[in-house]
Amino acid sequence: MQLSIIKETREFEKRVAMVPDVASKLTSAGIDILMESGAGLASGFSDDAYQNKGIKIAKTRDEALSGADIVAKVQPFTEDELNSISDSITTLSFLAPGSYPDIIRKMAKKSMTAFSFELLPRISRAQSMDALSSQATVSGYLATLTCAVNLPLFFPMFMTAAGTVPPAKVFVMGAGVAGLQAIATARRLGANVRAYDVRSAAADEVKSLGATFVVLELENQEGAGGYAKEQSAEFIAKQQELMTDQVAQCNVIITTAAIPGRPAPKLLTQNMVEAMAEGSVVFDLAAESGGNCELSKPGETITHKGVKIIGARNVPSQLPTHASFLYARNVAELVNLMTKDSKFEPDFEDEIISGSCVIQKGSIVNEMTKQLLGDS
Ligand code: NAI
Repeated sequence: MQLSIIKETREFEKRVAMVPDVASKLTSAGIDILMESGAGLASGFSDDAYQNKGIKIAKTRDEALSGADIVAKVQPFTEDELNSISDSITTLSFLAPGSYPDIIRKMAKKSMTAFSFELLPRISRAQSMDALSSQATVSGYLATLTCAVNLPLFFPMFMTAAGTVPPAKVFVMGAGVAGLQAIATARRLGANVRAYDVRSAAADEVKSLGATFVVLELENQEGAGGYAKEQSAEFIAKQQELMTDQVAQCNVIITTAAIPGRPAPKLLTQNMVEAMAEGSVVFDLAAESGGNCELSKPGETITHKGVKIIGARNVPSQLPTHASFLYARNVAELVNLMTKDSKFEPDFEDEIISGSCVIQKGSIVNEMTKQLLGDS
């Protein structure tokens, strides 16, 4: 069985789908890996680092793809990459089906089988394969660090001979995987941290990290699978109103609120930003999916009335070595699940395999993807 890894070609992507240490474990289990030359360079892994672990390097993308049973990537395929891929091949990556409908259709036309990490069921058995979680961990951590270096204040309390400074006040909106990591990182830096989530179940997790859970007089919005359900316009307006005072008191706001398959809820209005003190910082981790802050723009930092608003774009790629290491572990676990006696034999009776499959031998099998493409 051969697993092929090619260089990521989408803009701003520095990660790679396989790293040397994880690759060597797969080869010991009887899986051949062929890497495109230079695929790991942007994440800090030279061709030599792979070769030292016994991994073969192909000079070109076409050579890396020849003979592949499965191709693993981080980003959704590009048109150009798909042109190099032979028909009927199996792929594993993030696919963002709603954002790249033409790519999905092209993959189906080529009779490919495609698995998407966004669709992997969030069940206990799948935790080691959960790339959404591993990459959200990186995002939450980096969001806090970025705020800390942009804030003109200390995060921790300092008692010095020259005087005492109070700790920075940080408010994290959305306490899923990224939010909890943002909270944990801000706490490690000594900030005074509060957080809110529409799922009341998140309160215990927030408190276990030493932060305060902000209680708002709003109904729990937990929906299927432990995710937040889409909230009404009235709910969001009420939430904004109830959070305005808290926001004005804080030096840093990190927003991570998301609803699967839907645009991010707008939690921070222009008025709320204008009520914050000059020098405050907002990091909008949902900027690419519509934004939690009315003013944020993906990939840009803007200053509005003295408040810096940082719009996230592909945050995990900014910590490429460890983000790739975690992603490679997720890939290896899923590949192992699809392998039997060193042969590629995915069992579509397994809910992890069927749940993450978008296209099976050219047929789009995922209902949400069909709806997004208007095919159902
Ligand atoms: P996500 O990225 O889809 O959303 C982030 C957070 O935003 C969620 O906690 C959501 O409740 C919150 N949110 C949505 N609307 C909001 C609003 N108006 N105001 C404030 N917060 C709002 O979530 P993520 O990180 O993917 O996790 C979602 C769920 O999946 C969580 O319950 C998590 O514990 C669970 N999970 C389970 C795993 C497993 O069992 N294997 C692995 C990872 C996550």
